[in-house]
Amino acid sequence: MPHSALFCENWSFLPGFDPAWTTARQTGTPVALPHNAVDLPFDYFDEKCYQQAFTYQTTLEWQKRFAGREIWLRFDGAMANAQVYLNGTHLGGHPDGYTPFRIRLTDHLSDGENLITVMVDGSENPDIPPFGGQIDYLTYAGIYREVWLEQADPVSIDNVKIETPDPLAAEKTVHLRCLLANPQGGAVSGTCKVVLHDGAGTQIATAETELDDQGAALEFDGLAGLTLWSLDTPTLYRATITITGEGFTDTRTESFGFRAAEFTPDGFFLNGERVKLIGLNRHQSFPYVGYAMGREAQERDAEIVKHDLGCNIVRTSHYPQSKWFIEHCDRIGLLVLEEIPGWQHIGGEAWKDEAVKNVRRMIERDWNHPSIIMWGVRINESVDDDAFYARTNALAHELDTTRQTGGIRKHMHSTLLEDVYTFNDFVLGDFERPLANIARRGLRQREEVTGLSHPVPYLITEYNGHMFPTKIIDNELRQMEHVTRHLEVLDYAHGDPGISGCIGWCMFDYNTHADFGSGDRVCHHGVLSMFREPKFAAHAYSSQRDPSEKVVMEPVTHWARGERNIGGVFPLMILTNCDLVRMILPDGQSVDIRPDSEGFPHLPHPPAILRLGDVDENIIGKWGMSWPDVTFEGFVGDTRVATRKFSGAPVLTRLAVTPDRESFGADRQEMRVALRALDQLGNVTPFVDLPVTIAVAGAASLLGPDQITLRGGSAGFWLRSTGTPGDVRVTVSSPRFDPVVINLTTTAPEKEEMQ
Ligand code: GAL
Repeated sequence: MPHSALFCENWSFLPGFDPAWTTARQTGTPVALPHNAVDLPFDYFDEKCYQQAFTYQTTLEWQKRFAGREIWLRFDGAMANAQVYLNGTHLGGHPDGYTPFRIRLTDHLSDGENLITVMVDGSENPDIPPFGGQIDYLTYAGIYREVWLEQADPVSIDNVKIETPDPLAAEKTVHLRCLLANPQGGAVSGTCKVVLHDGAGTQIATAETELDDQGAALEFDGLAGLTLWSLDTPTLYRATITITGEGFTDTRTESFGFRAAEFTPDGFFLNGERVKLIGLNRHQSFPYVGYAMGREAQERDAEIVKHDLGCNIVRTSHYPQSKWFIEHCDRIGLLVLEEIPGWQHIGGEAWKDEAVKNVRRMIERDWNHPSIIMWGVRINESVDDDAFYARTNALAHELDTTRQTGGIRKHMHSTLLEDVYTFNDFVLGDFERPLANIARRGLRQREEVTGLSHPVPYLITEYNGHMFPTKIIDNELRQMEHVTRHLEVLDYAHGDPGISGCIGWCMFDYNTHADFGSGDRVCHHGVLSMFREPKFAAHAYSSQRDPSEKVVMEPVTHWARGERNIGGVFPLMILTNCDLVRMILPDGQSVDIRPDSEGFPHLPHPPAILRLGDVDENIIGKWGMSWPDVTFEGFVGDTRVATRKFSGAPVLTRLAVTPDRESFGADRQEMRVALRALDQLGNVTPFVDLPVTIAVAGAASLLGPDQITLRGGSAGFWLRSTGTPGDVRVTVSSPRFDPVVINLTTTAPEKEEMQ
């Protein structure tokens, strides 16, 4: 049987690289993969610290079962340029930090112990996309995704492409292409058998065909009774492909789905129904460990976008992201715009060739994911280069006839070589410039941007971000402006049927180069903090979903007399999907606040806004009078569905230590634990900077420092399991409270999948 096994343990690591090291194992730090080359502080660090070469080494003992087999090492991702040596011989490398690659060890393995050395060069080599100019994010060095040891027969399955033409037909069709790895180059004959199953494993259809040097192509049609993949029911099917011939056999299972995704001049249609795409851009970074996070943390990010924020699309800005993230988008029904690595800068011819290869690498890795609805085939926000982008588009279309292309630009009247004009619209912000003197508006009009007299498919791929950086600790008024800007764009996008949707900048704050951000190496552009804690703007998104999914009622206030200029909380905005919010004061006075459908006529759920002029000024009282407690009640129809209480005199009462789950995978998975300083009513005390000490015992370790400070009432940390199932005890101590202890467990992963 062919076999693919994780090859992530027993590596050693040391800074620097010397070719002489490739013949003898050096003394290094023992590490497991995924690994970040340099542990980083939260902020204010010199990003040059990881821009150098590093060495990873491990050994592979010759095993009898290797005889006559092909042996490969597969790297899911190593930043930025990886070169692989076996017993001193250079076997190959990969000049892209975001896509997988395989190194063939066959014929080079000796009896006994074989030394594998991987040089990972984290420098910003201008010959490799995205480098050569400034980029607003960090590209953390290291073997930051999993490595696999693959054993196969001389002929094996290299890749499988599954297309589902005409998915809306009652009887469905599957076109499957099996591509072979045949490194020894012999003539191939044999058979390729494919079994299609549903999610429960029930067989749907089977087919068999001859195999030749090109692999095999199979077609299924007349498939009845199948379910479409959709946002609410992301139904996945599986194809198990088995090839057999003289001296070889191989088998692999791939997931796929049936769905029609089309951008038109009249908007975006999923399975024939118009869907307004609402989403956020995501970087794949985390505090302290950069990109080096495993499956569960990647999956959790997808769940935040879909379930916490209620979005239906994510853009993997600005590169292909972890396969774990994308696979989870398939499972939970979250659409994806995936793009090649790059940021504004276009290099020379060799650089462009590499970018074109990145189009191939991205598509060949991800072409079976139903969640992916568009390939981004421009360097983000680069200038027009028609010859270059004609190539990226042609290749994308050649590799995948089922998906449309986009190319993210920030300039107007760009040559439209893609299927969709994808545009970063920062018009909301220009009005801030003193001389601009233009009316505030959420977005530009499509035709103004495209310069074309005819309507074309059109998608907004960024807005806000550096136009209005907002920290989780920023004052209430600034945060309300942050919220308002997100709402204004959402409202505009909802109001214009020609706009397929809008994807905001961005999901969470991220570490960046000194040329960007607030000087602290952080772009505070997220609707979440780096710890994935919500700013108020997060609820601009979460409040747009239907209340039957989840009721949201989030007043944009810390409820304090003197936080805002002049005092008070007006205008009081409540982000909600309720029909009515009732504000009740202790003396029994109450005010009903209704969604502001005049101010935000197109939003599915406009915020409820109470302005000072709308109420008797004494309802809350003036500066100098006592400040009351308040209760907000949310109603859908006549039913009260939500209650929020705020104290007029909050007291720091509790440190909540809240894990995302009670249990997580023992196989070196990461899980977030949120830290929140709460008052007597359970609300975050937003200006508490509380120092805490974190101690972790048992089957997990702490990522990042063991002493941190809650900022603006919250922070968080990630635990990483040690590889062995067991109990984990986390103790969080602070000067204001008795130590808080939580007990968690890590559980054995399901048996590794045979491929
Ligand atoms: C865009 C860019 C993003 C980010 C954003 C900040 O120009 O594409 O990567 O820098 O600005 O608003």
